[in-house]
Amino acid sequence: MNKAFILIVLLLLSFYSCKEIPNDGQALKSDNFTETHRPKFHFTPAAAWMNDPNGMYYLEGTYHLSYQYYPDSTVWGPMHWGHASSKDLVSWEEQAVILYPDSLGYIFSGSAVVDTQNTSGFGSKDSIPVVAAFTHHDPEGEQAGSQDFQYQSLAYSIDKGYSWTKYEGNPVLKNNTGIRDFRDPKLIWHSETSQWIMALAVYDRVQFYGSVNLKQWQYLSEFGIEGDTRLWECPDLFPLKIADGEETKWVLIVSIQQQGPNGGTGTSYFIGDFDGTTFTAETNQQWLDWGADNYAFVTWDNAPLDQSRRLGIGWMSNWQYAQEVPTKKWRSAMTVPRELTLHRDDDRYYLKSLPVEALRKLRSTKTNIPPEVISNEKELQGNFRVSQSEMELLIDLDKTTSNEFGITFYNEEGEALKVAFYPGENMMQVDRQQSGPEGFSDAFFKGPHTAPLQMQGGVLDLQFLSDVTSLELFALEGALNFTDIFFPSSPYSRLKVWSKQGDLVLKGGTVYGLNSFRGYPQP
Ligand code: FRU
Repeated sequence: MNKAFILIVLLLLSFYSCKEIPNDGQALKSDNFTETHRPKFHFTPAAAWMNDPNGMYYLEGTYHLSYQYYPDSTVWGPMHWGHASSKDLVSWEEQAVILYPDSLGYIFSGSAVVDTQNTSGFGSKDSIPVVAAFTHHDPEGEQAGSQDFQYQSLAYSIDKGYSWTKYEGNPVLKNNTGIRDFRDPKLIWHSETSQWIMALAVYDRVQFYGSVNLKQWQYLSEFGIEGDTRLWECPDLFPLKIADGEETKWVLIVSIQQQGPNGGTGTSYFIGDFDGTTFTAETNQQWLDWGADNYAFVTWDNAPLDQSRRLGIGWMSNWQYAQEVPTKKWRSAMTVPRELTLHRDDDRYYLKSLPVEALRKLRSTKTNIPPEVISNEKELQGNFRVSQSEMELLIDLDKTTSNEFGITFYNEEGEALKVAFYPGENMMQVDRQQSGPEGFSDAFFKGPHTAPLQMQGGVLDLQFLSDVTSLELFALEGALNFTDIFFPSSPYSRLKVWSKQGDLVLKGGTVYGLNSFRGYPQP
């Protein structure tokens, strides 16, 4: 054979194999992370576009988080899987991109599992494989109007998740449903029937498939709601033991593209049973988070937790405006990692979610808020940066006479994020209509955002995490979550508690200044 020809073949081969070989991620590292809108303790990629969390698993002391990523732009495009890792769920290190688009298409959302028994045969006794299932999305097929341009594929890693090989038998699950949306495989090991289960979003329903080796899949069943025509995405399925009992139920998480709790996209769940074939719901659909900005929330495989807790994370944005938000170098952050627990009140099952305890590591300064009756307004001051803080407040509803009270985060420019509570109406609101300069998206400034919140006496507990461009509220010990983002011209530096027409009786509280895992301490 001609030498030049061999050389060209070798060059081409090395080019293609290079694409999958990780570099050390240095090229991606930002020099400072000090941009006005850059969160301080939430994960953001150094640069470029990010959406859904993908392929999360824990292995030998490290939590892995992949995500939908387009390294060449700050808007959505040909999807890759970016990768970050953490030893403690607090401090994240961005790694090299692990999956690149290929001849089968873009790499859409999916999940990863630690295949301890090497059922896939991708590893060996001594090297446990991590196996990722993702959707190959063929953009040309989509444009041509084809019915089957999304199919499920595998990749595996035998070095704990830093370098990946795509399975040569891809795709492992083709679409013969006649339904165009066929994506976001979530894998789980079902020990009772000794098989892998794949939950897949198929337009307005979830389909379940079973496999003993992750390579051959059999259709099992589907679950949907009569009459629902919204687009379902990013399902998750897992068992959870009830927090204060012996009972175990199954949770089916589904993200919904339209008509989220406050417009646009949102994450919901059902509680019920799964017998290895069929999921049966025992509750209506409930919102996991009532804010506008927690989408595609899914959970970690193999996390070192007991059976009554499950670890997950969401994409802190909303498809209505995600590509227009005014960050320049990157787009989107994840929520903080949250722990889910299952509860039952009479006949109603529901989830609580709270920030992982590990985040307490970031607490630096501590300011006590003494009990006080507030009949107009009161600024809360102390040794903390409002835009990088955690606040716990307890409100005595029995003694509170006001029917409208709240907390406002604001800056010297007059921009403000207002959180209001209306006990008479069992309702709360987050109003970001004046949260920062308008103009990048109409949908973003529509509001206020509301959530039902039972406030019939007793003590209302509120926990706020504030991080430059996001506020995450956990009320009623995590039974109500509310996540909203905003983009003030300068970070909020002041905080006030207020009440209208009556007294707000504060039982007390605490504000912690939080450090940044990127090394920006409190003042
Ligand atoms: C959800 C989603 C998924 C899809 C991915 C593409 O946000 O639309 O259904 O796999 O994003 O980036």
